[in-house]
Parts: sequence; C-alpha cells; structure tokens
Amino acid sequence: MFIKSGVALLAAALAAVEPASAVNQHEGAREIARRSVTTKASDLNGKSFDYVVVGGGLAGLIVASRISEDSSLRVAVIEAGESGYEENAQLSSPAGNLYNSPLNSKFDWNWTTTSQSGLLDGSGNPGRQAPWPRGKVLGGSSAVNGLYYVRHSKTEQDAWASLIGAPDIWSWDKMFAAMKKSETFTPPEKNVTDQVNVQYNAKSHGTDGPLHVSWPAVSYPPVGAFIDAASQIAAPFNKDPDSGSSWGTFLATLTINPTNWTRSYSRSAYLDPYSYRSNLVVLTNYTVTKVNFDTSDASNVVAKSVEFANRDGGKTYTVNVDREVILSGGTINDPQILQLSGIGDKALLDKFNIPVVVDLPGVGQHLQDHLSAGVEWKVKNASEIAPAAVTGDALVDSYTNSAVSYVNTSTLFSGNYSTVIDDVKNNLTNVLNNMDIPDAVKQGYNMTYSTQINEIFQSKVGPLEILFAMTFGNIQVQAALQHPMSRGSIEINSTNPFDPPLIDPAYFRQNIDLEVLREGFKLARRVGQQAPLSDHVAEEVKPGSAVQTDEDWEKWIRQNIGTEFHPSCTCSMLPQEAGGVVDKNLLVYGTKNLRVIDASVPPLSVSAHLMSIVYGLAEIGAEIVLQNKGQYDKKVISSSSASASSTGGAGSSDGSNNSNGNDQQSDNSSSAARALTSPAAVLLAAAALVITMI
Ligand SMILES: Cc1cc2nc3c(=O)[nH]c(=O)nc-3n(C[C@H](O)[C@H](O)[C@H](O)COP(=O)(O)OP(=O)(O)OC[C@H]3O[C@@H](n4cnc5c(N)ncnc54)[C@H](O)[C@@H]3O)c2cc1C
Ligand SMILES: *[C@@H]1O[C@H](CO)[C@@H](O)[C@H](O)[C@H]1NC(C)=O
Ligand SMILES: *[C@@H]1O[C@H](CO)[C@@H](O)[C@H](O)[C@H]1NC(C)=O
Ligand SMILES: *[C@@H]1O[C@H](CO)[C@@H](O)[C@H](O)[C@H]1NC(C)=O
Ligand SMILES: *[C@@H]1O[C@H](CO)[C@@H](O)[C@H](O)[C@H]1NC(C)=O
Ligand SMILES: *[C@@H]1O[C@H](CO)[C@@H](O)[C@H](O)[C@H]1NC(C)=O
Ligand SMILES: *[C@@H]1O[C@H](CO)[C@@H](O)[C@H](O)[C@H]1NC(C)=O
Ligand SMILES: *[C@@H]1O[C@H](CO)[C@@H](O)[C@H](O)[C@H]1NC(C)=O
Ligand SMILES: *[C@@H]1O[C@H](CO)[C@@H](O)[C@H](O)[C@H]1NC(C)=O
Ligand SMILES: *[C@@H]1O[C@H](CO)[C@@H](O)[C@H](O)[C@H]1NC(C)=O
Ligand SMILES: *[C@@H]1O[C@H](CO)[C@@H](O)[C@H](O)[C@H]1NC(C)=O
Ligand SMILES: *[C@@H]1O[C@H](CO)[C@@H](O)[C@H](O)[C@H]1NC(C)=O
Ligand SMILES: *[C@@H]1O[C@H](CO)[C@@H](O)[C@H](O)[C@H]1NC(C)=O
Repeated sequence: MFIKSGVALLAAALAAVEPASAVNQHEGAREIARRSVTTKASDLNGKSFDYVVVGGGLAGLIVASRISEDSSLRVAVIEAGESGYEENAQLSSPAGNLYNSPLNSKFDWNWTTTSQSGLLDGSGNPGRQAPWPRGKVLGGSSAVNGLYYVRHSKTEQDAWASLIGAPDIWSWDKMFAAMKKSETFTPPEKNVTDQVNVQYNAKSHGTDGPLHVSWPAVSYPPVGAFIDAASQIAAPFNKDPDSGSSWGTFLATLTINPTNWTRSYSRSAYLDPYSYRSNLVVLTNYTVTKVNFDTSDASNVVAKSVEFANRDGGKTYTVNVDREVILSGGTINDPQILQLSGIGDKALLDKFNIPVVVDLPGVGQHLQDHLSAGVEWKVKNASEIAPAAVTGDALVDSYTNSAVSYVNTSTLFSGNYSTVIDDVKNNLTNVLNNMDIPDAVKQGYNMTYSTQINEIFQSKVGPLEILFAMTFGNIQVQAALQHPMSRGSIEINSTNPFDPPLIDPAYFRQNIDLEVLREGFKLARRVGQQAPLSDHVAEEVKPGSAVQTDEDWEKWIRQNIGTEFHPSCTCSMLPQEAGGVVDKNLLVYGTKNLRVIDASVPPLSVSAHLMSIVYGLAEIGAEIVLQNKGQYDKKVISSSSASASSTGGAGSSDGSNNSNGNDQQSDNSSSAARALTSPAAVLLAAAALVITMI
C-alpha cells in the first residue's frame, strides 16, 4: 500500500506509527520523514544489517524501500552523493533538467569516455572523448535525468527472458506487471490534448504505485506539429505505446507528479514517504570502496561486509552484512566495485595485484550505449515555443520535451533493408573472430548479436529513435541509436576506488551503428521539412545545408554525436559460460549472497529511454530478495535446532531458487519463511540471528 501524495497524507501515515505529538506540525513531520537519512558513518560503522544496498540511486532506493516494508529486516543504504534536500527546488523542476541543470555540479559524477577512435574532434581528428554524466545524489540519475518515461517492447523483453532461459521471471508479462506496480498514471490535461494528438490506454498503466507518470500542464503548437509530421513519414501514430508495442510516433509520458507539477523520482517516490522507518538507514556522502567475502567455500563465496569512505584518503569504515549485499551503483560503478573487490577477469585483476575472489570475465563487458544529436532550426515564431528558462510558474515549468518516434529497420533502409541485414549477418563470424576478448564474453556477444539480427532488426522494434525538442530557443529533431552492435567495457584503471574507471563504449566499432544514425539523421531533417512542422521552423542551423552526402553526414555524426545517457549491460544477465555476471535471480555467479539490481543487468540494450525498465527490474529484484529471505531464517533455525533438515550447509542447495544458475525450483524454500509468520518463530529467528553469522 502506498501513500500517493501530499504532506497531509504523509502525516496521516506517520500518525499510524508515530506518537501523535510528533506530527502536529508539517515541519515536524518533515524532520521525522528524513529520520532514516544520515551523514554519520557511525550509524553504520561496526554495526550489522540484514541487507546493505550499495548506491541510493534509481534502483537502490526501490530495493531498500521494498525490503524495509518488512519491519523485521534491517536495511542500510550507502550513497556516494548528498541527499539533495537542500536543492529540492532545483531537482524537482521538470524544466530545470535543461535550464537549471544539476549536471556539471556536485550531483554529477562527471565521467568521460576514453579516447574514441570512432569519434572526431572539431578539426576532424579521431580520438574525441565524450562526457558521460551520471547522477550522484539520492535518486541517482533519476534525480537529474530528462524525465522521459518510455517503455520498451514485448519483443525485447521476451528476448531477454530467453537469453537467460527464465520466462517465469523475466518475460514481458512479468516486466509489464512490475512497471505498472511502480506507477501511478494520470491522464493528460486539456491544455495538452488541445494542442497535441495524445492518446493513451489506461489499462497499460499502474494506478497506485509510488512513481507518478503523466504529462506536463502545458504544451505548444510545434509539439503537435511534430507528432503529425513524424506520423506521416517516420512511423505511424501509436495509440498505446506502453503495453509492449513500443514503436511508432507518440507524445511519451514523463515522470511528473501532477499534484504539484514536480519531478517524480526514486527518492520522492520510494524514500521520502517511508523514511520514518526505524529499520532503514540511508547514509549519504560515503562511497563504497569494497565488498569483503568469506572465501572458505571458494566456489560459493559469501559477502560479509562492505567498506566505505567519505573521500580519497579518508578513513575507511565497515558495515557487516547478515544476509545480502545488493549492488545498485549503476552501469559504471558496479563493475568498478566488483573488480576492486576481486570479482572480474583474472587477467585484469592480476594486472593490479588484486586477489581473485571469483574469476568472472564478463564483469564490465557487454557495455552498450545510445548515441544522439540533433538537426536544429531557428523558429518562425518565438512566442509559440516553451520559454528557455525556469520561470517560477509551476505550470509553465512543468513542460519538458517528450514527443518521440521509433522507426523500424525496414523503414530506415527502405529498398536496401535486406542487403543491410544480410551484410551484418554474413560478417558476424568475421566480427567475432577479430575481437580481443575472453572466450566466454565472445560467446555472449554471439548470443546477443544473433538476437539483435534475427529478432530485433527484422521486427517492428525501432533501432532508431527520433525526438522532438524545443531547446534554448531553437527547435531540434534529434536522432538516437537504440540497438548498438558496438560493445564496450568498464575497467578499473587503478586500485584506488576514487579514481575513475576506464569507460570505453567503443562507439562505431561496428559500422552498422553509423549507418543507422546516418539514415536516421537524413530522416530527422526530412521530418523538420515536412508539414505541418515545416510551418514552424525557419532556417536550419545544424548541421546546415553544407551537409548533404553520406560522407558529409558520417563526418558530422562522428564530430557531434554524444551519449543519450542510457548505458547498460555491464553486469549482464546471461549464462556464466556466455560472459554473464548475474544469474536469473540477479545473483553474481560464484557468490552466495551478492546481487546486482540496476541498469547494468539487462543483457541487451532496449529501444526506449532506460528508466522505465529499471523501475520494473528493481521491483522484480526486490521481490526476488524477499522471496529468498526464508533461506537465511532457515539456516539460522537449522543451526540452532539440529532437527531441521539442512541439505547443503550454507544454503546453496537448500532448495531455494537462487542457487547460482542451477536454480532447481522448490516449494520447500519458503517453508522457513512461512513458519516465521508466527510471532514465536519470529522471536526465535531474531534471537538466533543475533548469535549466528552466515
Ligand atoms: C543526464 C541524464 C539524462 C537521462 N535522461 C533519461 C530520461 O529522460 N529518461 C530515462 O528513462 N532515462 C534517462 N536517463 C537514464 C536513467 O536515469 C538511468 O538509466 C537510470 O537512472 C539508471 O538507474 P540505476 O539505478 O542503474 O543508476 P543510478 O540512478 O545512476 O544510481 C546509481 C547510484 O549509485 C550511487 N553510487 C555509485 N557508486 C557508488 C559507490 N561506490 N558508493 C556509493 N554509492 C554509489 C550513485 O551516486 C547513484 O546515486 C538519463 C540519465 C542521465 C545521466
Ligand atoms: C510534490 O508532492 C510530493 C508528494 O506528492 C512531495 O513528495 C514533493 O516533495 C512535492 N514537491 C515539492 C517540490 O513540493
Ligand atoms: C563535477 O564538475 C563540477 C564542475 O566542474 C564540479 O563542481 C563538481 O564538484 C564535479 N562533481 C564531482 C562529483 O566531482
Ligand atoms: C495552456 O496553459 C498556458 C500556461 O498556463 C496558457 O498560456 C495557454 O493559454 C493554455 N493553452 C490552452 C490551449 O489552454
Ligand atoms: C560531504 O563530504 C565532503 C568531502 O569530505 C565534504 O566537504 C562535505 O561537506 C560533505 N557534505 C555533507 C552534506 O556532509
Ligand atoms: C505567434 O505565436 C503566438 C502564440 O501562439 C500567437 O499568438 C501569434 O499569433 C503567433 N504569431 C504569428 C505571426 O503567427
Ligand atoms: C541504398 O544503396 C544504394 C547503393 O549503395 C545507395 O546509393 C543508397 O543511398 C542506399 N539507400 C539507403 C536508404 O541506404
Ligand atoms: C556463434 O553461435 C553459433 C550458434 O548459434 C555457432 O554456430 C557459431 O560458431 C558461433 N560463432 C562463433 C564465432 O563462436
Ligand atoms: C566485417 O567485420 C570486419 C571485422 O570486424 C570489419 O573490419 C569489416 O569492416 C566488416 N565489414 C562490414 C561490411 O561491416
Ligand atoms: C516497419 O514499419 C512500417 C511502417 O509502419 C511497416 O509498413 C513495416 O511493415 C514495418 N516493418 C516490419 C519489419 O515490421
Ligand atoms: C589511467 O591511469 C594512467 C596511469 O596512472 C593515467 O595516466 C591515466 O590518466 C588514467 N586514465 C584515466 C582515464 O583516468
Ligand atoms: C519438499 O520436501 C519434502 C520432504 O523433505 C520432499 O519429500 C519433497 O520432495 C520436497 N519438495 C520439493 C518440490 O522439492
Ligand atoms: C522462488 O521460489 C518461490 C518458492 O519456490 C516462488 O514462489 C517464487 O515465485 C520463486 N521466485 C522466482 C523469482 O523464481
């Protein structure tokens, strides 16, 4: 059950669990509401928690929130960034994502890629490094992102499920339900529907989840004109893009809370309403530097504690873990933390003299990113576009861009479609043989490439997104690569956790990515020249009339393209022999109790903005964690009462469904949890827990 909105409701909820006097005043309520959030290392140092969540970002706060619904479980979150409470107004203004941006501030990790041979600098020389912002604050990138809430397709989700052989957990039906579980949807305002063709199917949305999904309070004539133009020449208008058929043209939803026209994100949705919980502690401003393991069973190591520090050279603190460590540090930081902790490719770990805990070559590999840039025009009538500023008027400031069009491969390449697909297919062996990567990772690439070629590129799913944007006083039609064939990596560059890792997305390592964008930008320009959008644009300022031939476009792309901020897949859920890092239950191979839950686990990039899938997978991840909580109780009971049948000691073969890839399902795994529903059993387990360590 979730509190939808409002201080009054929050106070009412608090009244149920707190003494009435504590909630007499709103300020008081607010203070209590943040009670879980601390900057004191001593609140964790030397203590034990059932679950330690690394990273209080989009996924981490969902996982912590869901686990701490069970008041018997003690949950700690460690977030490298600050809380953001002092800068609430900046983070929560939708228009602020462009005009009062938290990027390039203390809320941004400010990463940059390594030198990219596929990118050109302004003078045309290869090796340009591209900026890679990431949120460093409670809520993570969901606190600083562009708010687009766009779902991926059934085709892609079912492909994921079949890559890991687990439709029972990862099919579209499960993901769709999980995304709806996280969502409260509100239909569009008349102000918007008067100007733009917006359709929706309420059945495709959630009604009482923590995250608000809706549209802004206002819109503008060029937005409607884009939808009409793109529907004619890019991809047909889609009345229901959110239920698995994610292609076509539509005005996408945004993570906006229409009760006060603010950004809804994982902190406001999953933490603020529940941070009165006494079993939840969220430590901000501390960076996790290492996970420590008990390696006495080398084939099934046990995470025992987590180390953290406030700054480079600062004191290191330790928190102990009774049940599980959950990595939610995001696509870049998870591989870094794993490698620093001894889980990764042995050759890399040896290079830095890091003792190998698990030789797992896939850690940090499979990196896939979306790339985007925009064709830009001056506007004919400057008074009909959104102000290029935060104005202080909440209705006006609720506007941010979200009109999109997902274009399929056959439209993009028209007459050349089958030739393009055949070229990629016929060159696959050649491509794989030319890669200098561990064999297991190569097997994984082979698997995911085959999925892309056979199931994605020949389907209705768009390898290209076209986006409409009013930015800084001009109009853009952007193009963005959605299904890169290029695969990159994240690797540590030193043993210092405060040194940035090497981020190598290997942009344009596969030529097909450049071809998709080249045809995409040609189409983007044509959309701008298509009525009725052409009635709203004046001269093209980028790239301008000098760019016409394929060669012109390719050079311009290499010089101007940048991340669309959607890196994923660096802890891919794939079979271990295919360079996988986590199994179908999100457990890191070779470990008993270390899970990864965030954007790093999908095995394939999806044609959508990334956060909707992360909201869904984090909900599923939390369910898996809770379904498996019984194994730890059972272990405790069996060690305190010799009569309990324990088949496998540390619980690795106790019939639970998180057994490192073998995954025999058994109804018996939750018997301990069921027994625990009696208060006496809870007390017994709690007492046993105090004296028993896994
Ligand atoms: C500028 C930008 C714009 C975007 N726009 C959109 C959009 O419009 N729509 C959309 O759907 N998606 C968008 N995205 C992508 C989306 O926000 C991310 O895919 C999503 O937030 C990923 O969730 P996550 O939980 O994996 O990581 P994050 O949300 O990034 O959370 C990771 C958290 O872990 C913390 N952390 C990392 N390492 C450590 C450590 N060692 N110790 C402690 N804490 C640590 C980080 O500080 C961060 O808070 C955008 C992203 C960015 C950066
Ligand atoms: C908007 O309302 C939500 C509750 O619905 C609340 O959590 C949030 O703090 C409010 N935002 C602002 C900036 O007032
Ligand atoms: C990111 O860069 C900005 C601007 O240079 C700086 O103020 C901020 O502290 C940096 N963020 C981090 C986490 O270092
Ligand atoms: C929409 O709202 C804006 C801002 O309040 C207002 O200026 C505009 O007239 C409204 N448009 C319509 C069509 O209602
Ligand atoms: C966070 O840590 C930095 C580095 O030690 C420190 O300068 C800053 O004051 C801290 N911020 C908060 C809110 O504690
Ligand atoms: C410009 O746009 C404004 C706001 O929509 C409108 O009132 C005005 O008539 C437009 N001017 C012209 C010349 O079309
Ligand atoms: C198709 O191929 C021909 C010949 O190579 C080329 O001239 C044309 O531009 C291509 N068209 C598309 C849409 O790729
Ligand atoms: C890729 O996988 C296919 C089977 O799906 C296999 O026939 C082929 O040999 C593999 N290619 C490489 C380079 O491993
Ligand atoms: C085929 O693969 C090789 C090796 O990666 C590459 O050099 C070549 O450009 C590719 N050819 C095509 C047509 O993509
Ligand atoms: C791609 O979209 C076009 C336009 O809707 C459609 O005609 C075509 O069948 C689609 N291609 C595939 C492979 O589905
Ligand atoms: C990686 O480490 C080397 C050697 O210490 C250093 O010169 C280089 O700048 C580092 N690269 C990055 C991207 O930090
Ligand atoms: C559950 O345990 C009982 C008793 O040990 C056993 O007979 C039964 O086969 C188990 N069920 C499953 C599904 O493993
Ligand atoms: C895990 O096992 C339990 C009990 O056997 C079952 O109810 C649940 O659906 C399983 N969860 C997953 C994610 O397979």
